[in-house]
Amino acid sequence: MADIAPGPVAPFEGPFGWTPDNAAEADRIIALYPEGRQASAVMPLLWLAQGQMADATGSAWLPVPVIEFVANQVGMPYIRVYEVASFYTMYNLAPVGRYHVQVCGTTPCQLRGSDDIMRACKDKGLKKGANTPDGLFTLSEVECLGACANAPMVQINADNYEDLTYETMTAIIDALARGETPAAGSQIGRTASCPEGGPTTLVEFA
Ligand code: FES
Repeated sequence: MADIAPGPVAPFEGPFGWTPDNAAEADRIIALYPEGRQASAVMPLLWLAQGQMADATGSAWLPVPVIEFVANQVGMPYIRVYEVASFYTMYNLAPVGRYHVQVCGTTPCQLRGSDDIMRACKDKGLKKGANTPDGLFTLSEVECLGACANAPMVQINADNYEDLTYETMTAIIDALARGETPAAGSQIGRTASCPEGGPTTLVEFA
């Protein structure tokens, strides 16, 4: 669970139910598992529910009524589902801002400048573990997000922003605050994790 202090986003009292599209998606996910093993669907269903909360309220989080709903659907006690939701940082148990900025601070990103990325966030008024007063941003520091080759990087909602500098991180926050959607991925034009500056080997056919 991301350790976020409740912010200005309104609490959610429920009730919760799937949208028609998500109801179909939940059925599809549950059908992937053998009869009697529906509990295996708990993580994708929590993720689906958190996404629906983001669409409906602007905040991707899992209030109690939502966790209860998922627990009922997969036939698990509430506390077991809560244990799952509270273990993984991908689930938020308190309201987050519209943009959840998760800065990777693990060694490869740290060596490539994650301190500068965190400083850029703080200089823009973001505070670690809290929501901004306007409810727009939440800042978290997280462990490796699996994009080390393009360090330093952040995840904002479902998108990765990679090969960052203080300046590009600042520009991304400014763009989001203006309501724009900055291009995700490498900020220096790399495709996936190809070498910086282009290929250096196997550049011509033998
Ligand atoms: S260390 Fe940052 S993505 Fe792996």
